[in-house]
Amino acid sequence: MNILETKNLQHRFGPLKVLFGVDLQIEEGERHAVIGPNGAGKTTLFNTITGTYIPTSGNVFYKGKDITGFPPHKLARIGIGRSFQITSTFTRLTAFQNIRLAILSKEGIRFNLLRNVDKMQKITNETDELLRRINLFEDRDVKASDLSYGKSRALEISMALAMDPELVLLDEFSAGMSREETADAVKLVRKMTEGKTVVLIEHDMDVVFGLADRITVLHYGKVLATGKPDDIRNNKEVKAAYLGDLEV
Ligand SMILES: Nc1ncnc2c1ncn2[C@@H]1O[C@H](COP(=O)(O)OP(=O)(O)OP(=O)(O)O)[C@@H](O)[C@H]1O
Ligand SMILES: [Mg+2]
Repeated sequence: MNILETKNLQHRFGPLKVLFGVDLQIEEGERHAVIGPNGAGKTTLFNTITGTYIPTSGNVFYKGKDITGFPPHKLARIGIGRSFQITSTFTRLTAFQNIRLAILSKEGIRFNLLRNVDKMQKITNETDELLRRINLFEDRDVKASDLSYGKSRALEISMALAMDPELVLLDEFSAGMSREETADAVKLVRKMTEGKTVVLIEHDMDVVFGLADRITVLHYGKVLATGKPDDIRNNKEVKAAYLGDLEV
């Protein structure tokens, strides 16, 4: 079953047309990579799926339901989470406070609850447990702005996952990371997304071919091909348009 589908999704910024009718099909439980050259429209595709932009035309379906234009908080409530291409942690808050915020927002808890000691203890325990799972417990009280780049991105990915979404969209989670940080982040994503559906935009072909069950290639705002990694690697059009220059 497709958990997420876009049908004839189009988007333009004023006169600049960026998405030319994108049909994307994401199967439940798969890790699906969206690849393509800079400016192909990958982030715009995410932004139109997750309500940052309302698409000029076309529709987005989640579990068969039309969710076109739903704002992010509504999407979070029905089980869709995302991370951003640009780091979006709260830099002045500690690792603990960042994760706690994500957990609080999952629970839909208002801040007056911070006075409820028992519930707060439960949230604290849950936050600490998650920090241990993502190997950031030692940095629990470090401000996000003082974490290493790799750790701050790991924190960000974990915030998207702390809300326990069924479907998560990750926009270039490995961008700017060293080889080592990337390898750790891949492990983290693998571990934290077990049983979930993941759509990831990615430029690093090691990450793509290491993680993805299926791949969609976006080129000038259109889907050039969708398929299993081997089919994409051997696809003539994809090679000519994109992968030809890359060693994969
Ligand atoms: N808010 C915006 N206003 C105007 N033009 C935009 C806006 N966002 C993106 N664009 C343009 O839309 C096109 C697609 O951009 P987008 O960010 O979706 O590409 P991308 O595939 O994510 O690229 P990259 O791999 O570099 O992240 C580009 O030409 C970009 O300049
Ligand atoms: Mg992008």
